[in-house]
Amino acid sequence: MAVRPIVQIGDPILRQKAKRVKHIDRSLDPLIEDMIDTMRAAPGIGLAAPQIGVSLRVMVIEIDGELTVLINPEIVKREGEWEPEEGCLSVTGYVANVKRSWAVWVRAKNRQGRDVRLKGEGLFGQALQHEIDHLDGILYVDRLDSLDRLRKIEPGRKRRRGRAAEAVSQAAS
Ligand code: NI
Repeated sequence: MAVRPIVQIGDPILRQKAKRVKHIDRSLDPLIEDMIDTMRAAPGIGLAAPQIGVSLRVMVIEIDGELTVLINPEIVKREGEWEPEEGCLSVTGYVANVKRSWAVWVRAKNRQGRDVRLKGEGLFGQALQHEIDHLDGILYVDRLDSLDRLRKIEPGRKRRRGRAAEAVSQAAS
C-alpha cells in the first residue's frame, strides 16, 4: 500500500470527532494498510485515521512487533495513574509527560468486524488512550496544565523503549 503524509497540529481534521465506521468489511483494508505502512515508516507505535486525513474511528498500534487494529474503540474502565513521556507524530519535535491511566479496558471491533475486548497496561495502555483521544479530536498537548511542559527534542533521537507513546519524535521518529 502506501505511506501517506501525516497531518500536523493546526489542521482542523485533528480537532474533529471522527465518525464511527458503520460497515466493517474489506473496503477498509486499503485505509488500514496505509495506516500501518505510515506508522512503521515514521516510525511510531500508533496512528489514528485522522492523522492521515480520514475522519473515521480506526486506529493501529504496534509495540514489539505486536500489531493491534481497532475500529470504533471505547474505553470502558480505567485503573491507576502515571505520567509517562509522550510524543505525537502530528506534533513533531516535542515531548511531554502526560497524566494517563495505568490500565484501560477497551471495547472495539477488529478488522473482521468481530467484537473484541482488551486490557492495556503501561505503554500499550498509554498508546490506546493516545489514539482514542485522536478519534475524539484531542491531542496530548491538550492534557498538559501548561505548554511550558513541552520539551523540544532534537531530530534523530531514537525512541526509547517504554518511554514513548506514539513516537517520541518524528523528528526522532
Ligand atoms: Ni498522536
